[in-house]
Amino acid sequence: MKLILLGPPGAGKGTQAKMLTDRFRIPQIATGDILRGAVQAGTALGLQAKSFMDAGALVPDEVVIGIVRERLQQEDCSAGFILDGFPRTVAQADALQATLAGLNRRLDRVISLTVDADALVERLTGRRTCRNCGRGFHVLFDPPRQEQLCDACGGELYQRDDDREETIRKRLTVYAQQTSPLIAYYQAAGLLTELDGMQAIADVQEQVLAALQAA
Ligand code: AP5
Ligand code: MG
Repeated sequence: MKLILLGPPGAGKGTQAKMLTDRFRIPQIATGDILRGAVQAGTALGLQAKSFMDAGALVPDEVVIGIVRERLQQEDCSAGFILDGFPRTVAQADALQATLAGLNRRLDRVISLTVDADALVERLTGRRTCRNCGRGFHVLFDPPRQEQLCDACGGELYQRDDDREETIRKRLTVYAQQTSPLIAYYQAAGLLTELDGMQAIADVQEQVLAALQAA
C-alpha cells in the first residue's frame, strides 16, 4: 500500500500513520520527524531546517524532496509506505510523482483529514510526543497511562517547540496557502478520499481502513 496522509497541523496524520504501520508493517515517512531528528542531532540538515521550523514556515522544497527521494528507494519501502506531512506544496507533489514513476510505482490513495481550526489548536497545545519512539499523546484526548511516560516504550514525553499557540496559527496559515491546493490536485488525479477527522481516534482509523479497502 502506497499512501499519503494529508491534513493541517494537528489533523491526526501522525497518530493514524503510527496505527497503520503497526497494522500493515510498512514504514511511516514523516518529513517533520526526520527534520526534528536532524535538528536534535545537530547535522547540517538540522541547522538548515531549524529556523524555518521554529517560525512555522516550510523548509525549502529541494531539501525535503531530496530527503523523500532517497528514503523511498530504501528496501523497507518495497511493500509500501505511508507519507505523513509530505508532499506539502504542488512542487513537492510533482517531484513525488516523478520519483515514483522512475521507480515504476504509483500511489494507491491520498487520505485527507478534515478538522475544525479551533479543534486543531486544542489538539496541538495538548500534544505530548515520545522522545524515544515518536508516538503522540494528548493530555485530554489520548493521555498516557503514566504521566510524562510513553505507553509503548516508556520513553520521556515532551512538548514540541512549534506547538506554541502563535506558531500553531502560522502553521495553519501556511497549510491553507501552500498545502491545501493539494486537495484539488489529488482529487483531479482520482486518488483523494476526504475523511472527517473530528471523530475519536479509533473511529477515524476505522474510516481510514475502509477507504483503503475500497482503493
Ligand atoms: P510536521 O511534523 O509534519 O507537523 P504538521 O504537519 O504541522 O503536523 P503535526 O505533526 O503537528 O500534526 P499531525 O497531523 O501529525 O497530528 P497528530 O497525529 O500528532 O511538520 C513540522 C514542520 O516541519 C513544518 O512546520 C515544516 O517547518 C517542516 N516540514 C515537515 N514536512 C515538510 C515538508 N514536506 N515541506 C516543508 N517543510 C516541512 O495529532 C495532534 C494531537 O491531537 C495529538 O496530541 C493527538 O493525540 C491528538 N489527536 C489526534 N487525532 C485525534 C482525534 N481524532 N481526536 C482527538 N485528538 C486527536
Ligand atoms: Mg505529525
